[in-house]
Amino acid sequence: MTRAEITTPDILSEEQAVELSLRPQRLAEFIGQARVKESLAIAIDAARARREPLDHTLFFGPPGLGKTTLADLMARELGVNLVTTSGPALEKPGDLVGPLTNLRPGDVLFIDEIHRLRPVIEEFLYPAMEDYRIDIRLAEGPRAQTVTMPIERFTLVGATTRLGMLTAPLRARFGLVQQLGYYPAEELEVIVRRTGEVLQVPMDPEGAREIARRARGTPRVANRLLRRVRDYAQVRADGRITRAVADAALALLDVDHLGLDDMDTRLLRTIIEKFDGGPVGLGTLAAAIGEDGGTIEEVYEPFLVQHGLLQRTPRGRVATTQAWRHLGVVPPAGLSEQPGLF
Ligand SMILES: Nc1ncnc2c1ncn2[C@@H]1O[C@H](COP(=O)(O)OP(=O)(O)OP(=O)(O)O)[C@@H](O)[C@H]1O
Ligand SMILES: [Mg+2]
Repeated sequence: MTRAEITTPDILSEEQAVELSLRPQRLAEFIGQARVKESLAIAIDAARARREPLDHTLFFGPPGLGKTTLADLMARELGVNLVTTSGPALEKPGDLVGPLTNLRPGDVLFIDEIHRLRPVIEEFLYPAMEDYRIDIRLAEGPRAQTVTMPIERFTLVGATTRLGMLTAPLRARFGLVQQLGYYPAEELEVIVRRTGEVLQVPMDPEGAREIARRARGTPRVANRLLRRVRDYAQVRADGRITRAVADAALALLDVDHLGLDDMDTRLLRTIIEKFDGGPVGLGTLAAAIGEDGGTIEEVYEPFLVQHGLLQRTPRGRVATTQAWRHLGVVPPAGLSEQPGLF
């Protein structure tokens, strides 16, 4: 299998380089997301047996949960080439002509951040996805001629953190749509241990557990925390990650006990301090924080809702008693207890 990148990649950061080295090589090595994995395995086996390309597949879910990794694994399992690009990297339909005409039968074209495709590119993709053909305009202007070119039958894999921003026609063209959710701590613990083995860091199970618990349900965060704890263990201890070492390192890094990040804390703090705990409408909250409402809704809130810190009510967002307590503020009398997962 070969892989190609439509734009020249920038020099890799430490994080990106480590992420690449940690990427599972087989679908079976991908930890968690059992339902997604099973659906993919079935679709892949069926496509292989029929010698047909896999249906176009869309992955959606918050950052760092494995969307890009799964696209990579799909191409590996199918034994086809992977061509990678992203919504913002594609400026004009011409950017896709070369890659699409060079595809071999069954190859995977991966488009990351597919919600950021420009409309002209989206329209250019429709016939490619549906009928495996592309329409090329030979010149500019209203009377320009268009030629139609056939391309090989391929699989488009799209990934997005913002499903809500995808247009309905694009969404409708994916035969397989898979949502990735946050990982339970037990699964993250397995991921941390595996990463520890790859990086050859000695680690107690309790050390791995502590990192996993504070990783915001996200493998990328778990791996990042592990690297920081490893540094601490090397410099301040004997190199081994024990529970105490993990605890001390994470405290020094100001990592929250529940794994909340800066944005989570800011969101909850704003609701509590500026809006008396809510309810506050999404638009008002977005303006107060200076972040796009859709991003708050699709990227930040799901974790807080899932963990009983935030409620979405018809009148707006409400911080739960757990949220008040977690931020060290006494909740007002009368605010009911919400069942949380912690
Ligand atoms: N289930 C998993 N098992 C093992 N490692 C994982 C798993 N999911 C993700 N990872 C690791 O976490 C890191 C982030 O994953 P990935 O880049 O696939 O996330 P993503 O969903 O594409 O994020 P983004 O939305 O930011 O593009 C990678 O290093 C990947 O190897
Ligand atoms: Mg990605």
